[in-house]
Amino acid sequence: MDNNYVAPPYRIKMVEPIRMTTRDERETLLKQAGYNPFSLRSEDVYIDLLTDSGTGAMSHFQWAALMQGDEAYAGSRSFYKLEKVVKDITGYAYVIPAHQGRGAEQVLLPRLVKHEHMIFISNMHFDTTRAHVEIAGARAVDCNIDAVLDTETYHPFKGNFDAERLVNIIKERGAENIAGIIMTITNNSAGGQPVSMANMRAVHAIARKYGIPVLIDGARYAENAYFVKQREDGYQHKTIREIAREAFDLADIFLMSSKKDGLSNIGGLIVIRDDTHLYNECRTHIVPMEGFPTYGGLAGRDMEVLAVGLQEALEEDYLRHRLDQVRYLGDRLRDAGVPIQYPTGGHAVFVDCKKFVPHIPFDQFPAQAVVNQVYLESGVRGVEIGSFLLGRDPDSHQNLEAPLELMRLTIPRRTYTYRHLDVVADAVIATYQQRNDLIGLEFEYEPPVLRHFTARLRPIKKV
Ligand SMILES: Cc1ncc(COP(=O)(O)O)c(C=O)c1O
Repeated sequence: MDNNYVAPPYRIKMVEPIRMTTRDERETLLKQAGYNPFSLRSEDVYIDLLTDSGTGAMSHFQWAALMQGDEAYAGSRSFYKLEKVVKDITGYAYVIPAHQGRGAEQVLLPRLVKHEHMIFISNMHFDTTRAHVEIAGARAVDCNIDAVLDTETYHPFKGNFDAERLVNIIKERGAENIAGIIMTITNNSAGGQPVSMANMRAVHAIARKYGIPVLIDGARYAENAYFVKQREDGYQHKTIREIAREAFDLADIFLMSSKKDGLSNIGGLIVIRDDTHLYNECRTHIVPMEGFPTYGGLAGRDMEVLAVGLQEALEEDYLRHRLDQVRYLGDRLRDAGVPIQYPTGGHAVFVDCKKFVPHIPFDQFPAQAVVNQVYLESGVRGVEIGSFLLGRDPDSHQNLEAPLELMRLTIPRRTYTYRHLDVVADAVIATYQQRNDLIGLEFEYEPPVLRHFTARLRPIKKV
């Protein structure tokens, strides 16, 4: 096993105690939570790998910036600071803040849906993006490469679009029915997998040919740029900022949940290259949805923090350590035979639960069963990314079968140590050793939208 750690480029200045629970306590807590760890209280979680969204540690520069927040309702100084940073990074003309990624989605996506039966095409839609596409009256079509389904085989850019299929979909549906092409970087649902610059270039060329707008869903665009630097010829001598800019040059709109590569606890962005009409429409609609266009649901202090965090997330030393933590956890699991999406992506290790518990059918949520068992073992909270999350077909209302049943072990930024990751690895390995005893789940309560957040489940008793 490769035990070489990348030493953290920071030291610890403040600590947050975390509580350990007993196995008996966790049995009760999980039952009370309806076998859905989203309903656990965080104080009942020892190591929280539910998400990397808004869960990272801020730097002292960010905490200092927070004190300078200008809380003016209109024209806040903090907005103009943020706007300048975002314009410098992206080269785009228009910046509108939102309270988080889905706030940006709910304002922007409906503006692109001009008539009935339109679709968005993405290398893979994230769940809230898919939800907002559907709420806007359109449909979400995924266009990932097949390699993503083969979790064991190495591919440097598993997040890529299938460019050939993209052309076929456009021809089949007609360009006038495509509301937008969404490049999700990194590709979260595929395992935090990166997208190559060559692929983005190809997608951009196709989009231009057919006159379709390109959106970057770039919650983790800095992590993507680091992978490009590591893995794609011609990028080794470029800075992360230069690589990121090259990606932005291949799109028209940048939507961001800045709770990830903004290194902030809250925040989102709508950034538009040059479409003044679209910008004006978004400015109009942000007001009733998120707030006045110079705060968009954020406090002035949040915008200050984000302006600093966006720049820190582009630092190479930070990214090297960040991505190595993910690599380390992945290697520990692979060395013990646990099936994972390989290579590991940017923000999480994705455990392949179709292989982990092949005896549990998709509509009994195999990955959820694994997530629950890992919590019982150790107090570590992961999250299901599979058929439970995917939900039902909006037209037929049948349960959809996800192409991958994954347990995501998401690593917050600058938060846990390699020793914490050893605890996680030990818990997953212990669960793997009992995999044949795991059983499926059924609904006690199923919400109609984004059901995985608030559903209640119960184990299906063997008869
Ligand atoms: C790729 C991607 N897009 C959009 C979102 C939604 O962002 P938020 O959670 O800030 O609403 C996320 C969140 O995880 C994401 O990963």
